[in-house]
Amino acid sequence: MTSTETPREADETRLRPVRAAADEPVEVRLTVNGTPAVLNLPARVTLSDALRDHLGLTGTHVGCEHGVCGMCTVLVDGEAARACLLFACQLDGAEVVTVEGLGRPDDLHPLQQAFGRNHALQCGFCTPGFLLSSYDLLANKPDVTDDELPAELSGVICRCTGYRNILTAVAETHRAHPDGIPEPGNCARRALVGRSNGQSATVPEANKPVADTAAKTVDIKLPQGEPTVAVEITTDLDVPFDLVWRVLDDVHLLARCLPGAELTDDLGENAYAGRARVAVGPIKLSFNGFARIVEHDRDTGTLRVLAQGQDTGGAQTQADITLVARPTEQGTQLRADAAVYLTGRIAQFGRALAGDISRRMFEQFAEAVKEAATSGEAPQTPAGAPSALRLLLSTLLDRLRRIGRRKR
Ligand code: FES
Ligand code: FES
Repeated sequence: MTSTETPREADETRLRPVRAAADEPVEVRLTVNGTPAVLNLPARVTLSDALRDHLGLTGTHVGCEHGVCGMCTVLVDGEAARACLLFACQLDGAEVVTVEGLGRPDDLHPLQQAFGRNHALQCGFCTPGFLLSSYDLLANKPDVTDDELPAELSGVICRCTGYRNILTAVAETHRAHPDGIPEPGNCARRALVGRSNGQSATVPEANKPVADTAAKTVDIKLPQGEPTVAVEITTDLDVPFDLVWRVLDDVHLLARCLPGAELTDDLGENAYAGRARVAVGPIKLSFNGFARIVEHDRDTGTLRVLAQGQDTGGAQTQADITLVARPTEQGTQLRADAAVYLTGRIAQFGRALAGDISRRMFEQFAEAVKEAATSGEAPQTPAGAPSALRLLLSTLLDRLRRIGRRKR
């Protein structure tokens, strides 16, 4: 915007008219939850479909698709809007905040905390719409009274009829923040990759973070308390220590040894961006995140890595992994110690299942390190999403075989 332009004039420049047939692809640049994305979408695609099907942000719920129920409410340039009534191509240059951007699973927004505290959700289908409508209300009308809340929030319909507790949660948040509602807490520049197989989004080159700036912003925080899964695996490899260390020394080669993992960017200062995929039956998780090498010492044969990833559906994982390689008479002993923290829908697998899957993945990792150390090349195992069910099944088969051997 130049100094002589009014905001309306600047808006009119940005919201250029789009002439395109319904199925004609149109390039749309959006900033979604702080991350720039470029989408090539048919002109008929609504914002709700773009968010859900093309960016994998399925927190935006769709009820009526007619602008009646308010379930699809998101923030567009700071104001609540019905995502089902907007075409994505109308919004070139807009900033969108969805419920995924409101708070983090380990650090929920005060509105989300109040909804939880007051049992303001039953099935939760209307919750994203209510959260963003309430946020818009408290941010743009901070002097709203408790008596006005029912009318102000009547734009979202709760089919579970949980209105009383929703109003209590909003009123409580309002009272707790008399000087203004805190901003959305999960809007930051990061890789945006949806879970769907739809049209993919890319982060524009010009907006990609500069490596050393990015490295400084990679802040990997491990949660307090016990990890969800603690894995401790020792494997004897009939490969000399030097060759094994050569793999541990080459972070790209090492990443190729972990089933489903892939490094996507070197951010400098021992920090890396990457993704990891795992499939449990119909549930496919694709974690985007960061890893930082915090210890790398050939003398002790130790490599320690902290990693953090988030799935677009809100599943989150953090891990503290230490690999120690020691020379032995037969070759090398490789020990992996991992503390894995899981939150969100991945935690529903339960500790035992998650533990078995993690252990199996580390066993495969040790095998892959052996293969890479022997051949000097990345292992031939596919880098695609490993099926957790297959991993689990092979664990069960191993157990059954062991029991069978003991009985004989
Ligand atoms: S789905 Fe958009 S208002 Fe109902
Ligand atoms: S909690 Fe079920 S629709 Fe509102």
